[in-house]
Amino acid sequence: MNSWFLQRPGLIYETFPAKGKTEEDDMKQAGRSDIRPFEVMEAFREAELVAAAGQDVVHLSLGQPGQTAPRPVLDYLSTLINTAPLGYTDARGMMQLRERIAQFYHERYGLEIPVSRIFVTVGSSAAFVMTMLAAFDEGASIAIGRPCYPAYPNIMKACSLNPMFLDTDAAQNFQPSWEMLAPVKGGVKGMVIASPSNPAGTMMPEGDLETLATQCEAEGIRLISDEIYHGVTYGKEATSVLKYSDSAFVMNSFSKYFLLPGWRLGWAVVPQSLTRAFESLLQNFFISPPAISQYAALKVFDHLDALDKVVESYDANRDVLIKGLQEAGLTKLSTADGAFYIYADISDFSRDSKDFCRRMLHEAGVCAVPGNDFDESRGHDYVRFSFSGELADIERAVERLHHWLKQ
Ligand SMILES: Cc1ncc(COP(=O)(O)O)c(C=O)c1O
Repeated sequence: MNSWFLQRPGLIYETFPAKGKTEEDDMKQAGRSDIRPFEVMEAFREAELVAAAGQDVVHLSLGQPGQTAPRPVLDYLSTLINTAPLGYTDARGMMQLRERIAQFYHERYGLEIPVSRIFVTVGSSAAFVMTMLAAFDEGASIAIGRPCYPAYPNIMKACSLNPMFLDTDAAQNFQPSWEMLAPVKGGVKGMVIASPSNPAGTMMPEGDLETLATQCEAEGIRLISDEIYHGVTYGKEATSVLKYSDSAFVMNSFSKYFLLPGWRLGWAVVPQSLTRAFESLLQNFFISPPAISQYAALKVFDHLDALDKVVESYDANRDVLIKGLQEAGLTKLSTADGAFYIYADISDFSRDSKDFCRRMLHEAGVCAVPGNDFDESRGHDYVRFSFSGELADIERAVERLHHWLKQ
């Protein structure tokens, strides 16, 4: 607080409750901020305490790549500090980077996306918030498959929107479909999908994506496709929803395939009619995305081969983890076609995944994440295991789990 403010007692006084009212009346928490914390972070914090007490902990909890960006990208960045103009950039992101992203759509998907529809954002997280604000009025209901990335329904609530959950399980490969949306289509204004998904790593079949995209467009339901795990797939390429719909929003990120999670950079592809609104929101909320991160992102496009090699290493980790979990007795696993997660049904061992994870941490020295974060109603039966780390750690973890669960 600056001294000018302190010299104006009237202003300070105005922040105290008026006579006759309690402080709670005037200064209560806004209802829309009443959202759940990330259990993932809490599991992580507990693991750090256990490690600080001297126990060796293997992490299968990480939601980020275990490897850093390719060395030439990091070397280039160290020179930038002294040479590049690192002020604010255009709120939509640097033109060079937006053009490179458009080229990427051409190279990877054979799609021609006008640069005017591409917006660089502070992680895909910011792209999602902007999308909610640009596309929906307060009170709108938005469908989303569950289990899902927990920030999405939480952000919806914080934007005064109502998440409408479409519950999926192994029978639907943890992916929603038009068949699930159709019976409630009159009540929703939008739908959020993610393929590959977090926490199950499953992918929507291309035919289902096409049906969902075309039906949503025909019914005036705004589709939001989270494509953050594109590039991180095993055996089949992911298709962008942009192939089937120009009215859908796409979220993507430099945090996963591109190995730049802490640089806080992502992008959105926005329907042409909403580009002006999206830009105004970005200008007002963020001014611009971080400049140095945009240079990093531009450079990382020169090293796509190295990124693909990292995906090959996840594939090897995935095989070891699937086999190890099955041998330990956890046989009900999601297919993990992409991303770096397996969502395991632990109900043969426990109906309380928080307790299961706590015991797994303390007794076996393995940290993974309870399903409650991803699914408030059925997550107690599930645990998310991540295989984005080192192969040696995954081997150690499965050995420990085998011993622990077979006791
Ligand atoms: C499915 C999914 N979407 C979005 C995000 C947000 O990522 P970021 O803001 O780093 O782009 C994450 C992060 O883990 C995620 O798993």
